[in-house]
Amino acid sequence: MKSTKYLAIDKNIITKGISLDFSIFTLSSDKQMNCFKENGVCFTSNDKVIIDSINVLYVEEQQHEEYKKFYQTFLNTQDELKNIKLDNKPSVIYEHASNVLNDLFSNPETLSNYDSSKEVVNEMIETILSDNFTIKSLMDIATHDYYTHTHSINVSIYALSLGSYMGMQPETLSELGESALLHDLGKSKIDSAIITKNGALTDREFHEIKKHPELGYRLGLKLGIKNNNVLDGIRHHHEKMDGTGYPSKLKGTQIPLFARIIGVCDIFDALTSRRTYKEAMTTFDAIKLMKLKMNNHVDVKLLDKMIRMFQ
Ligand SMILES: [Fe+2]
Repeated sequence: MKSTKYLAIDKNIITKGISLDFSIFTLSSDKQMNCFKENGVCFTSNDKVIIDSINVLYVEEQQHEEYKKFYQTFLNTQDELKNIKLDNKPSVIYEHASNVLNDLFSNPETLSNYDSSKEVVNEMIETILSDNFTIKSLMDIATHDYYTHTHSINVSIYALSLGSYMGMQPETLSELGESALLHDLGKSKIDSAIITKNGALTDREFHEIKKHPELGYRLGLKLGIKNNNVLDGIRHHHEKMDGTGYPSKLKGTQIPLFARIIGVCDIFDALTSRRTYKEAMTTFDAIKLMKLKMNNHVDVKLLDKMIRMFQ
């Protein structure tokens, strides 16, 4: 039996009295998808209270087109994000990013999807540079169940926050955000059975997965990316400081800065995300593990900056 796929949506679209052309689902604590509201049925003020307490709402993949049409209208009526209360803005951006990344990973060679991903980066930067932004506000709404596309968004958020903390200019942040968002794009070219496998990989599977930085780099070239910083971040995010990483076994500062930043953020998000075979670590435990056990792999100076950023 083919299992139904569900995609995260922006819960800000739900208002009291609204009825939608698609059904809304929630994920229970035992990881079951439950229908929260059938299509065509009105949302009550009580529903709204419940929804406010839920992190993520979902639609079935086959109804995603209806959602996207509705969402576009929603965005237009909100004057393209500008009038949304700042409190809600990070979650709107997160869900927008999630939709764009779904499309990009499904069709990684389509230029319009790549262009949309650049818009997402700009929205993230605008939010991160705004006065009211705290890293915690975006971390609170980040989806901590691991999917390649949500992982890419989380890594971009951490990388941009770290870059901003390090005093990078908006233009550099824009390049860093793009590189981080696309860092795992090469995984779209690898057998999804390997990408989504639960638990340990065989040697052959690991050999396959190790191709993704190079595949991502080639996709980047195909999409017309010319900026070497962006390309380097994609190609070298799995290099390790002691030279045991891949694909080029680069050592220390031979590893380009963007790749070192993405590398730290990549590991941090992997540790703090929940997988079917492991629970999510807390920020504190993840940082402690990286500091004690991975100091030959990650750039410790960048890790120290990340620790100060979280304080
Ligand atoms: Fe990767």
